[in-house]
Amino acid sequence: MTTGFKMLGVVLGLTIATGAAIGQDAADKALADATKARQAQMQLYAFNLGLLGGMAKGEIPYDATSASAAAGNLLNLAQLDQTHIWPEGSDEMGVDGSKALPAIWENLPDVMAKNDDLVTAATAMDSAAGTDLASLQGAMGALGGACGACHKAYRVPNS
Ligand code: HEC
Repeated sequence: MTTGFKMLGVVLGLTIATGAAIGQDAADKALADATKARQAQMQLYAFNLGLLGGMAKGEIPYDATSASAAAGNLLNLAQLDQTHIWPEGSDEMGVDGSKALPAIWENLPDVMAKNDDLVTAATAMDSAAGTDLASLQGAMGALGGACGACHKAYRVPNS
């Protein structure tokens, strides 16, 4: 009787420990998935910005249709609902490969303001990109600056 009771205790203990481990794994996976998703968004930013930057520098021939498409993509990307891709705990300490500084979660209003600055710059680029090369070039500085301002404050610097 006593033994049976103890066994039950052991089994229960194991079940609880396993349940906790699964819960932790799921939580870690959720943080890692969110990190990958926001890095993918950043890669899409970089690809579209690269196209515009290439045209601005004359490395890629200016084409109004391609420039408009890239600018429109940037504007749409910047306006995605990002609520679920910045979970607390997905900073460089919490997730392997994350370059997000913990400061993000201490300054969320400022991070959102920096995203708003990107929307503003992308809106200007969206009107300029299809007009002509000079207009595209004129909108480039503010757009690149909006990316850089957030990286400077909230991304682990490249060593
Ligand atoms: C609101 C802040 C913010 C803005 C605006 C922003 N970024 Fe980022 N970016 C970050 C942070 C934080 C990281 C690190 C994310 C991580 O590793 O989890 C990052 C990472 C990146 C990366 C590396 C992604 C990877 O695969 O590891 C690229 C490329 C990038 N950003 C490009 C851009 C470009 C281009 C723009 C502008 C069009 C931009 N970002 C705008 C905050 C921002």
